[in-house]
Amino acid sequence: MVALTDRENTKSPGRLTTQTIEIGSQTIAIRSLDWDRDRFDIEFGLQNGTTYNSFVIRGEKTALVDTSHRKFQELYLDAIKGLIDLSTLDYLIISHTEPDHSGLVKEVLQLAPQVTVVGAKVAIQFLENMVHQPFQSLIVKNGDRLDLGNGHQLEFVSAPNLHWPDTIFTYDSKTRILYTCDAFGMHYCDDYTFDEDRELLEKDFKYYYDCLMGPNARSVLSAIKRMEKLDVGMIATGHGPLLQHYLSDWVSSYQKWSQEQAKADTFVALFYCEDYGYSDQLARAITHGITRNGVAVELVDLSTAEPQEVREFVSQASGLIIGMPSQSDQNAHAALSTILAAAHNKQAVGLFETGGGEDEPIYPLRNKFQEIGLTEAFPPILIKEPPTKVIEQMCDEAGTDIGQWLMRDRTIKQIKTLDNDLERALGRLSSGLYIITAQKGDVNSAMLASWVMQASMNPLGVAIAVAKDRAIESLLHIGDRFILNVLEEDNYQSLMKHFLKRFSPGADRFADIKTYAASNGCPILADALAYMECEVTTRMECSDHWIIYSSVHTGRVGKLDTLTAVHHRKVGNHY
Ligand code: FEO
Repeated sequence: MVALTDRENTKSPGRLTTQTIEIGSQTIAIRSLDWDRDRFDIEFGLQNGTTYNSFVIRGEKTALVDTSHRKFQELYLDAIKGLIDLSTLDYLIISHTEPDHSGLVKEVLQLAPQVTVVGAKVAIQFLENMVHQPFQSLIVKNGDRLDLGNGHQLEFVSAPNLHWPDTIFTYDSKTRILYTCDAFGMHYCDDYTFDEDRELLEKDFKYYYDCLMGPNARSVLSAIKRMEKLDVGMIATGHGPLLQHYLSDWVSSYQKWSQEQAKADTFVALFYCEDYGYSDQLARAITHGITRNGVAVELVDLSTAEPQEVREFVSQASGLIIGMPSQSDQNAHAALSTILAAAHNKQAVGLFETGGGEDEPIYPLRNKFQEIGLTEAFPPILIKEPPTKVIEQMCDEAGTDIGQWLMRDRTIKQIKTLDNDLERALGRLSSGLYIITAQKGDVNSAMLASWVMQASMNPLGVAIAVAKDRAIESLLHIGDRFILNVLEEDNYQSLMKHFLKRFSPGADRFADIKTYAASNGCPILADALAYMECEVTTRMECSDHWIIYSSVHTGRVGKLDTLTAVHHRKVGNHY
């Protein structure tokens, strides 16, 4: 291994350096060392900084695997220009589109407009929205190959959810290096390129796994299974040291932790067809709703899935969701038969059309699941047109429904765990009764709320606790607007009853309810005692709820001498 050049940016508030080093035949790592970074995702505190690793592979053609964080713009571009003439770069392989790896894609595209960007379909879609400029692209799936020449035959390994749905690994058969981006990484920064000191790194390796990979344990196991077919000699991760000296130990640890985690998880197997209709878009929206409940999702492409894999997922899943494949997709047909053979009556099931135009009919399959005795989590979702935001919201709500159904036993158990005295004491916390109404584009939603309080005077602000499994949560992000409708004493029952109803996915919450539009576009309930127009300023994660703090802009009271409906509870283990 040959160290090439080190560079340092002394102008940055934190110490930033780059290290370029040859790690294999015609293969160079460019490591961006972020020595002082002390926070990553929201709660992911860092002790030892991090690195963002990028790689150059040179055959007859040249490929760059990932870029770096934007803060390394000058250092990284200097480093790469010192290695290759960017005007001759052939491929930019995107393992994952999060900005710590793709933060300089736009700059690389400007310097290398001839380059072909290689990635999973989702990654290319994300990038199109990110860089806002046309580029040539090549979508790759599991098992696809790309020959760079001089023996550098690249093979792509699908690794969805590690750490986003867009992730692919890249394996180079010449150097036996597997490029895994986030997977097998750690937030650790030092001058050592490799994992020489295992004991020193173990704690950071495990902490990183727990934060980033553990929530997708089944996806980790699927990726490891795909890796077994490859003769891997080094794992070149996107963060921290490259793994070579204790390779099998690191992989075994991932496998062991994921097996333990997967045993404890409730999960839904979601079967879809990545390349057919709008299947992937709808699958993502449904997944969003499911995971809101703390239920994991295993995405399986019906068109490429192997029977053994399908059988395993179906036998272990608590819920099944199927996006209908094309009638001409033979692999998907075989997979549907496998699903039917392995499904059992303790599971919930939901079906959706994919809008591909030649979908397998949905109702015969629905009838078969009913015969087996599965519970239908939501009515079939039937779409023929490109999905709108309203359809996506409907899918999100369908996912929320199946997630809530699967977690119902846990919720009841949690409610029962409070002791009686504490239950009664908490029950003495009383509150008003309110309806939150929100509208974003064509999508609307509403929720009965009682955990509401004024939270600031200047500016005027309110705080509302919203359970994480509420579909309206996706309309209450920072900058979103909503109406806080105040219910009237002795005149709230009909509104409360209406909004407490269980709505089917996509149902109009405001049918038969008198509303008028506020200046922020959200519906005001005509029968509310008062209303306030609010804008979300901050969200604080509080275990199973979000506290939504919002500034209040305008408001009005309908009847000045009438009181707010008050909610008194006997016990505090439910609303
Ligand atoms: Fe290192 Fe998910 O980005």
